[in-house]
Amino acid sequence: MKIMVIGGGGREHALIKAIKKNPEATEIFALPGNGGIAADATCVPIGAKDLDAICDFAKANAIDFAVVAPDDPLALGAVDRLHALGIPCFGPDARAAEIESSKVFAKNLMKKYGIPTAAYEVFTDAEAALAYLETAEMPIVIKADGLALGKGVIIAETREEAREAIASIMCEKKFGESGSRVVVEEFLTGPEVSVLSFTDGETVVPMVSSMDHKRALDGDKGLNTGGMGTVAPNPYYTEEVAKRCMEEIFLPTIRAMKEEGRPFKGCLYFGLMVTEKGPKVIEYNCRFGDPETQVVLPLLKSDLLTVMMAVEEGRLAEIPVEFSEDSACCLVLASGGYPGSYEKGKAITFAENEALSASTVYHAGTKLAEDGGLVTSGGRVLGVTATAPTLKEAVEKAYEAAKGISFEGVYHRNDIGSRALKALAE
Ligand code: AMP
Ligand code: GLY
Repeated sequence: MKIMVIGGGGREHALIKAIKKNPEATEIFALPGNGGIAADATCVPIGAKDLDAICDFAKANAIDFAVVAPDDPLALGAVDRLHALGIPCFGPDARAAEIESSKVFAKNLMKKYGIPTAAYEVFTDAEAALAYLETAEMPIVIKADGLALGKGVIIAETREEAREAIASIMCEKKFGESGSRVVVEEFLTGPEVSVLSFTDGETVVPMVSSMDHKRALDGDKGLNTGGMGTVAPNPYYTEEVAKRCMEEIFLPTIRAMKEEGRPFKGCLYFGLMVTEKGPKVIEYNCRFGDPETQVVLPLLKSDLLTVMMAVEEGRLAEIPVEFSEDSACCLVLASGGYPGSYEKGKAITFAENEALSASTVYHAGTKLAEDGGLVTSGGRVLGVTATAPTLKEAVEKAYEAAKGISFEGVYHRNDIGSRALKALAE
């Protein structure tokens, strides 16, 4: 089978490594892929948003199955276009992808179907939003409606900060047109849990839970990033929470999307907060998370390609999807300065140590230099994933492995997994 994976980050590297385990996957193309993915697939220099070029490539190369991983091409309708060419895909069509690409759509869906989430108001007019803020309780959360690279969410501690957020999103259009509408919502507290799930529109199969670490610095300080590390499973996702999530959130969401005539097929990511009143949805993503995928897939015992094909064919209920009882930790190595500006083109060296040989290094922002060596080409450069029977061992192993990798300006958080380990000890 000829497989095509759209995207070029650590998540796509993890997807490709997992797909590759199936001997049927004789050829894998990554569009565009990256320097490290080049060791596992044929990289093709076509951008993930260039749908015309993607479709031409798929036709010309008789692709048998396509995996569309990032949010942008999904929202733009990559799956709709590939389906029109008769190419089976893993991923939602554009109408189903709106569950991520429009926060207003997602919030209204949850309200209509009674799915627990933060109370909210939608505004299309800055004056009305500002008037509302005068009497609202602080802190408050302000979200741009559309995709904003995970940066369109502002938590305002004071009324002044909230006013500034409205001004920057709605008036200065800091996140472009995605800020024409805003959601202003209640500030919730509690531990966050990420649950990725496979769904074919009827059946939903949650994967092992995980915990992201979004802030740049230790102790959840510093700016928000795409994610500086993950662990799985997430200790706050107890059996009781999992049961409530299935009954109150996962199944109702799948049924709601079907009811709305937008059946969701692919990976639906539930960003949850376990509040005192039970689990609530913070956000939906219409795709695998990054770097959640880098801890979830290494724990998947079943064959990924088989599951993905069952999702596309609506046969998910018929196949087993099993996860290991082990734990995993992914530590992100980033370029100095990220998520702000940073330099690229730094040579990456690997000094094999025992832990590194036993770990998996997923490439996010790397490229091959002319001399064949690897250099940095992005903010998040590598994700080092270790698995072990306990979370403590997995975390230690990932940190040990990372000691073998260096490039100028490299930085990582020193506390990935520490909150989870503390919760386990309680
Ligand atoms: P999102 O981009 O929707 O994932 O939001 C980014 C982060 O903002 C989340 O991971 C939460 O930590 C935080 N957040 C979003 N919505 C809320 C809320 N209603 N209450 C508290 N924190 C929130
Ligand atoms: N790590 C969060 C996300 O993929 O959206």
